Amino acid sequence: MKRSRNAGIRPLRSRSASSLSPIGKLERLLEYSRKNFAERHLDDLLPEMASQTRILLDADRCSIFILDKSRKVLWSRIAHGTKATLTIPLTKGIAAETVKTGRVQNIRDAYRDPRFNRDVDRDTGYRTRTILSAPMKNLQGEVLGVFQVLNKRGTISFGPEDEKILAVITGQAAVAVENAQLYDQVREAVSDTILRLSAAAECKDRDTGRHILRMSRVSAVIAEALDCPKTFSDNILLASPMHDIGKLGVSDAILSKPGRLTEEEIREMRKHTIYGGRILKGSSNEIIQMSERIALCHHEKFDGSGYPRGLAGKEIPLEARITALADVFDALTNRRAYKDAYSLDESLKMIRDGAGSHFDPKVVDAFFSRLDDILACSGPDSAEVSAEPYPAGIMDPV
Ligand code: C2E
Ligand code: SIN
Ligand code: SIN
Ligand code: FE
Repeated sequence: MKRSRNAGIRPLRSRSASSLSPIGKLERLLEYSRKNFAERHLDDLLPEMASQTRILLDADRCSIFILDKSRKVLWSRIAHGTKATLTIPLTKGIAAETVKTGRVQNIRDAYRDPRFNRDVDRDTGYRTRTILSAPMKNLQGEVLGVFQVLNKRGTISFGPEDEKILAVITGQAAVAVENAQLYDQVREAVSDTILRLSAAAECKDRDTGRHILRMSRVSAVIAEALDCPKTFSDNILLASPMHDIGKLGVSDAILSKPGRLTEEEIREMRKHTIYGGRILKGSSNEIIQMSERIALCHHEKFDGSGYPRGLAGKEIPLEARITALADVFDALTNRRAYKDAYSLDESLKMIRDGAGSHFDPKVVDAFFSRLDDILACSGPDSAEVSAEPYPAGIMDPV
């Protein structure tokens, strides 16, 4: 799971390809392609592709624009020479022309071309001479954005070979951009569904879904403080809300009982870990797999005295050691049907005292190292959680 954000991409060896033979260029293109397919993060991939393009095409600059269909603008994801995000209306400019026609535009003298949008140069202080502008199209032929290379070095303008190379690169970029956009959409839908379903389980014993929202954010902050890979902290944010989903199988009489539970009721209540594990078992999705481990193990204790299996130390998955702390912290600082809220100081003391017995001491250290951030996203009067996480009233009696 551990991976460096730039895995597979070595520093560029040279800034110019003018000395390369056609075969040399082809080799370079293939080498880049191999690296690009290994890179899943758009934030790393697009700058890399912009640099590769600049080198292969002997251009001074490369800009990548992403099309925002609903607002009818192009916005620059990458633009060499400027840190600002450029937003270009679809009404003017070579980039807009590229979207409208869906064809490569090879401009030999920008200032003589009436379609050229001088605003961009005015904003960036750059002098554009030649432009090769190619549409980034998905497999259905829809335009997702534009790759532009500016100011060919040495020769007068970009040639047919440059157009071919750019077509290969934009084809790869389109696949990457489309994948990333689909991935974001799916992740958003999954996150939304998880929160709604977890809230359904939650509302059996609490009236809002705030507990799960707070504890998932706290879990992600702890994971970050532990220097876990980014995928891990991203995943724990989505996986942890489901930790108590097994409470769906526990009777309301127990969960909303105002006082302490009897031995028998405690035995029954503890089964929520097993039920949760069963509900989430057998998924091929890594987030659901993580949530299964969390549901099953979030009441295990570091010294082996927890339930349901009495696992100890590293036998307990790291994600469960993290959520165990986040869950208890939230339970302590908030009122429950069976108890009042503890003060923050009392709660923090109980967490600290639990290091080594209930909690992994490393997780406790991580928690305290980011206490300010944790209080900001979980404190009783934190502005961030005071907004309803769910459409108002979905938990109201009907
Ligand atoms: P929960 O209310 O979300 O509490 C989660 C965990 O926070 C508890 O796991 C426990 O480790 C910790 N915790 C909560 N309140 C206190 C407290 O006052 N003191 C201390 N030292 N720790 C606290 P636990 O005990 O395994 O309970 C799991 C779930 O079972 C609870 O979730 C709650 O839904 C239910 N439950 C536990 N005890 C009682 C009880 O006495 N009465 C009722 N009605 N429900 C209970
Ligand atoms: C244009 O698309 O017309 C101008 C783009 C640029 O100079 O980067
Ligand atoms: C692990 O146990 O899963 C690795 C990191 C840790 O122990 O905290
Ligand atoms: Fe629980």
